[in-house]
Amino acid sequence: MTERDLKKTLIGLSTLLPVALGSYILYKGKTRKVRRESLRGQVVVITGASTGIGKSYAIAFAKEGAKIVLAARSVDKIEQLAKELGVLYHVDAIAIQTDVSIEEEARRLIDKSIEHFGHIDILINNAGIASYSYFQDSNLDDHKKMMDVNYWGTVYCTHAAIPSMIKRNKGRIVNISSVLGKRAMPIMAGYSATKYAMQGFSDSLRVELKKYNIGITVICPTTTRTEIVNNALEKDNIKFGSNIGMSSDRVAKETINAILDNKREHIIGIGENIGLIINNSFPSLVDTVLTMAPKFMIKD
Ligand SMILES: NC(=O)c1ccc[n+]([C@@H]2O[C@H](COP(=O)([O-])OP(=O)(O)OC[C@H]3O[C@@H](n4cnc5c(N)ncnc54)[C@H](OP(=O)(O)O)[C@@H]3O)[C@@H](O)[C@H]2O)c1
Repeated sequence: MTERDLKKTLIGLSTLLPVALGSYILYKGKTRKVRRESLRGQVVVITGASTGIGKSYAIAFAKEGAKIVLAARSVDKIEQLAKELGVLYHVDAIAIQTDVSIEEEARRLIDKSIEHFGHIDILINNAGIASYSYFQDSNLDDHKKMMDVNYWGTVYCTHAAIPSMIKRNKGRIVNISSVLGKRAMPIMAGYSATKYAMQGFSDSLRVELKKYNIGITVICPTTTRTEIVNNALEKDNIKFGSNIGMSSDRVAKETINAILDNKREHIIGIGENIGLIINNSFPSLVDTVLTMAPKFMIKD
């Protein structure tokens, strides 16, 4: 190739690339808009819907015209939210008081949802709790409680929902993990472990359920402004509150896009995506950097 040919190719590429990228973005936006219509009338069960990310999911799906089941322990909050969704967005929304860490309650949630709406299109396993403490200072019961809600709650609801999805040859399970399910942090060993467990569970199930046309999407948000810190089992010694991070509405919006794009996994945040690539290549370096993290997170 002569220098002139090379120049011509480079000029061609520099014109083509932005055009191709622009067309791709336009195409994505347009197909998503069309596919968003497909959410209208879909039955969506959301655990942990009383506050934070779960509440944002409820509002976001209501805006799309979905039929919604709200689950959480705080029955007053979800009943009130169900009413508001009905009034504001004219959708059919019901509240079912559920503690997902209790298998019978998780099964009851799924059974009642099917009884009311006939089936479930999308199950969002979002209920979760956290705890912030050095491992050696932590109460081991808190580790079990986190596993009971974050991991076992997901397993119970999923196990109860799958048979009817298999029968319909259709369904989607959305598991709300965390970037900490990809790269654990100090002072959050127990919480990170629950999210790694969810990740392994989801990756295995995705393959098993493919033949039944049931998709599994794992969502990995980064720090989000919700009640998670206020609701944490152990939080007395931490330096931060619930007011840092991205908005729960952004998490909801990106989750809906991930569902429409039939994504297997979605990590939220450009920095987080880059950070995880660096972590995968240089984990020891990231270990070293993270040894400094507790200084910013825990009071002396
Ligand atoms: N906020 C973040 O920085 C962040 C980052 C990454 C991932 N996440 C994940 O996002 C999910 C939602 O958390 P969030 O930040 O929105 O926290 P949040 O505001 O504290 O909300 C947690 C929700 O889970 C429900 N819940 C807790 N224990 C439950 C149980 N045993 N049974 C049923 N529901 C239960 C709570 O309702 P009740 O108390 O009424 O039961 C509440 O609706 C969690 O899985 C969390 O791990 C959060």
